[in-house]
Amino acid sequence: MIVALTGQKGGVGKSTTAINLAVAALARGKKVLLVDADPQATARTWGDVAAENGHEAPTVVAMGATMHKQGQLPSIAEGYDLVVIDCPPRHGDVQRSALMIADVAILPCGASAADAWALANAIDLINEARVLRDELKAAILLTRKQGRTALGKGARTVLESSGIPVLRTELGQRIAYQEALAAGMGVTTFSPRDAASKEVSSLLDELERFCHGQEADQRHDSQSVVCAAE
Ligand SMILES: Nc1ncnc2c1ncn2[C@@H]1O[C@H](COP(=O)(O)OP(=O)(O)O)[C@@H](O)[C@H]1O
Ligand SMILES: [Mg+2]
Repeated sequence: MIVALTGQKGGVGKSTTAINLAVAALARGKKVLLVDADPQATARTWGDVAAENGHEAPTVVAMGATMHKQGQLPSIAEGYDLVVIDCPPRHGDVQRSALMIADVAILPCGASAADAWALANAIDLINEARVLRDELKAAILLTRKQGRTALGKGARTVLESSGIPVLRTELGQRIAYQEALAAGMGVTTFSPRDAASKEVSSLLDELERFCHGQEADQRHDSQSVVCAAE
C-alpha cells in the first residue's frame, strides 16, 4: 500500500500523520518506507532524532518530483508492505508525482474554514491525476480537531460536500503528537495509552479497509444530524 499525504496548506498535520502511520505500521511488524518529499525535511529530521536516540524507525528517504518515474520509487516500493509519502505544501509538481504512484491520497485538513477552502486546490490535483489513473483513491482526514467547538463539529459536514469522502477517524489537537515528534517517536510508542495512540491505530485500520475497496465510513450518528441542522 502506498499512501501519500498531500495538500496545499502547511501546518495541517501531513508530516505528523505520515510519521505516526509509519511508526504504527512498523510496530505491527510491517516493512515500512517513509518518503520525505518536502524540502523542509521534517520526516528526515525526525528520522535523525529517532536514530540518535535509538528508537525503532522506518527507513526514511528523500525524493522529489520524479519519484513516480521508472527506476525511482516504483523499484524500491516493491520491497515494502507500506510506503508513506510526506508531500510538501504547494510544490504542485511533487504532489503530482506522488499522485502518479500512490494507491491512496490522504488530505489532512484542520477544522477551520481556511483549511477547508485550501482543500479546493488539492482536490483539483486529485481530479487531474484521476484522468490518468482512475484507480487513485482519496480521502480527507480531519486533524487538529478541538473537541467540542462548533467549528470542529461543523467541519465534517462542510467537508463531506466536497465530493471526497471524509475518513471516520479524526486526529485531535493533542500535545502527545508534538512531544512524540520531538522525541523521534510516534504516539503509539511514545504514549500508547494516550487518545492520540488510539486515533493513529484506528486510522491505520481504516486506511487498510479503505485501500481494499471499502469506502470511508460515513458517520450517520445524531451528532452529524445536529451539525447539519446548525
Ligand atoms: N493533531 C495534532 N495535535 C497537536 N499538534 C499537532 C497535530 N498535528 C500537527 N501538529 C503540530 O503542528 C505543527 C505542524 O504539523 P506538521 O505535521 O508538520 O504539518 P504539515 O506537514 O502539514 O506542514 C507541528 O509542530 C506538529 O507537531
Ligand atoms: Mg510537513
